[in-house]
Amino acid sequence: MDHFTLLDGVLHAEDVPLPAIAEAVGTPVYVYSRATIERHAAVFREALAPLDNPHIAFAVKANPNLAVLRVLARQGYGADVVSGGELIRALAAGMKPEDIVFSGVGKTHAELEQGLRENIGQFNIESEEEGYELALIARRMGKTARCALRVNPDVDARTHEKISTGKSENKFGVPLDRAAAIYTALAGEDGLDMRGIAVHIGSQLASLEPLETAFGKVGALIAELRAAGCTVTHADLGGGLGVPYRAGEVLPAPAEYGAMVARVTRDWDVRLMFEPGRVIAGNAGVLLTRVVRVKRGLTHPFVVVDAAMNDLARPALYGAWHDFEAVEPTGQRTTAHIVGPICETGDTFAMNRECDALTTGDLAVFRTAGAYGATMASSYNSRGFVAEVLVDGDRFATVADRIAPSAIMDAERMPEWLA
Ligand code: LLP
Repeated sequence: MDHFTLLDGVLHAEDVPLPAIAEAVGTPVYVYSRATIERHAAVFREALAPLDNPHIAFAVKANPNLAVLRVLARQGYGADVVSGGELIRALAAGMKPEDIVFSGVGKTHAELEQGLRENIGQFNIESEEEGYELALIARRMGKTARCALRVNPDVDARTHEKISTGKSENKFGVPLDRAAAIYTALAGEDGLDMRGIAVHIGSQLASLEPLETAFGKVGALIAELRAAGCTVTHADLGGGLGVPYRAGEVLPAPAEYGAMVARVTRDWDVRLMFEPGRVIAGNAGVLLTRVVRVKRGLTHPFVVVDAAMNDLARPALYGAWHDFEAVEPTGQRTTAHIVGPICETGDTFAMNRECDALTTGDLAVFRTAGAYGATMASSYNSRGFVAEVLVDGDRFATVADRIAPSAIMDAERMPEWLA
């Protein structure tokens, strides 16, 4: 459930009519609903109520906006970060260092140092090589790194291939059949506190079955490690829960996920950790855009909007569907191609889409844009970086300024020999 609803014929974010935001901030602009973020955070936490003291770390990559992170920090959420930049953001937003987990297959030497310096809660080590490097740095700094070993369970998450991470051919984690040997070896390293196993098989999962299969493999590994004399006190089950992108689409509910986890992990005797991203932020945001013009097409009109693939990359990257709705629907419907202004055919949000009829100057939204939206924006075609707004009841604030093309240009330098 979200708080983007039609009131008196006008789409609102909570109590704010979207035209007021377009008027004040311009378009395109991402609009997030605080009440929706908080609701999703609560629903996910309640879904895990059958578990004993679960640790929930929001996957910052899904929406790294500082204000969004602050809302989640106040909900008691920690952070799953995958870069030094995300670590700085999580701390700046008020997340506690001990609640931060550092994932990622390519943490640099500097990033490992940074994590140690900030005394973060856990490193999810993705290779034996990374483990030895971290141990070396930790010893030099006189620190101990709390670590989980990320395993690759070779399970097909049955999602888009580009966001599938748990197949053996994917770059993530260590193969299951080598995990016990690597864990044992790293547990013997001074500077490392090997305390758990981590797994994440992919994103936008439409079924719990692959997750259950993967978790089952993790459970067997934990038993094997303990039998070999290793200590295992934590298990990080990652993120991945899918969200509905189309009105009426049904996905596994967080409560079903929580019940499955409780059943599978009953005998594990560990502190469970989670890294949800999309399920928290996805439906808490829309991309608000204005129709530049409607152009006649061969079979259907092209609705050219002022948002483009640089603002919302998911349709171009993954062929992703985002519901598209008029902010002030007239009741008239049409079939159209929804496109942005960028000079490549990939800048197409939808073809042959049945949608609200729109004309030049009308406002519309792409829904479910709160996760993997603004965070994946670029300035391609020398467009600016899209602005972001957070709504809270009847008030709203710009939480990320639009970065003008000229400001981006300011970071560029002309070499002397071209002056
Ligand atoms: N933990 C790890 C280690 C991850 O790699 C990810 C996402 C998550 C947690 C959060 O997963 P979620 O709960 O959001 O599914 N840009 C793509 C999604 C990429 C996901 C990458 N990893 C998209 O727009 O669909």
